[in-house]
Amino acid sequence: MNLCRCHRAQCALAMLLTVSCFTTSVFAAARRNFIPASSFRDEFVVTWAPNNVRFPEVNSDALQLVLDQNTGSGFASKDSFLFGNIDMEMKLIPGDSAGTVTTFYLSSEGSNHDELDFEFLGNTSGQPYALQTNVFSSGIGGREQRIFLWFDPTKDFHTYSVRWSPYRVVFLVDGTPIRVFSNNEAVGVPYMRNQPMRVFSSIFNGDSWATQGGAVKIEWSHGPFAASYRGFSASNACRASSSAGAVACVRAASNHISATGGMPKQKGFNRRRLNWVKRNFMIYDYCKDVARYSPAPPECTREF
Ligand SMILES: *[C@@H]1O[C@H](CO)[C@@H](O)[C@H](O)[C@H]1NC(C)=O
Repeated sequence: MNLCRCHRAQCALAMLLTVSCFTTSVFAAARRNFIPASSFRDEFVVTWAPNNVRFPEVNSDALQLVLDQNTGSGFASKDSFLFGNIDMEMKLIPGDSAGTVTTFYLSSEGSNHDELDFEFLGNTSGQPYALQTNVFSSGIGGREQRIFLWFDPTKDFHTYSVRWSPYRVVFLVDGTPIRVFSNNEAVGVPYMRNQPMRVFSSIFNGDSWATQGGAVKIEWSHGPFAASYRGFSASNACRASSSAGAVACVRAASNHISATGGMPKQKGFNRRRLNWVKRNFMIYDYCKDVARYSPAPPECTREF
């Protein structure tokens, strides 16, 4: 059964240009799982240290996670998702953030879990934050990449996004792709396509490893440390919180794959921009770490 409700020509065009057909139509069967993007209070629950989670303005769609000498803090989405476009706006800790780690990630549960991570590694005043991304599929991680950003992430809010389809995951910063993890099941790499993931954020003490390899510790007299979040959106995301929901999301996705004949030939992301990031801002790539992985894992040569 073909659940892709666009016309054949439209489907072909969508395959050529983007995955928009997928995101707009494939979940028609699971439409009751869609809820429009809404506010933090509706979407999230505080999961760690409520006293360190601040809502700075009444009625505003924003919150702050605070790290002090006693504890970090965190929140998680009530719903879980299976495919979709997940966006968060974040403003990182100003001034001295050395030793702190601020996160925004998706994760499923259990020992063979899937996970897609943004981890922001703080630094001493005036030194650049590093953005580390990682990907776990079926419990296998160890796929760290690190970049510097092309702006100061502590000055303003910027948008950090995951575009997650059955074909690939694209990590983006303000719409610029910084990383692609493609579905490489064909060469034996597990792909995140049947475990719903919740959205998480946290702030914590990572000074044993985060800043300059753990050499720089948190200077508590410069605390408390606060990172700000706003503008969460899960557009065209399949909400999979109930078991029926997860099944509907998986079925819609696999129907889409068989209806369209598999991996689109076009990339659905801006390769030129991705190369620009890699060339100018990448400071670590597990794919290039021959001391750690030799030969490089199969997904490293198949990033389409
Ligand atoms: C912090 O700044 C130093 C010096 O510029 C840099 O080498 C390092 O990569 C930066 N980021 C982290 C997380 O250590």
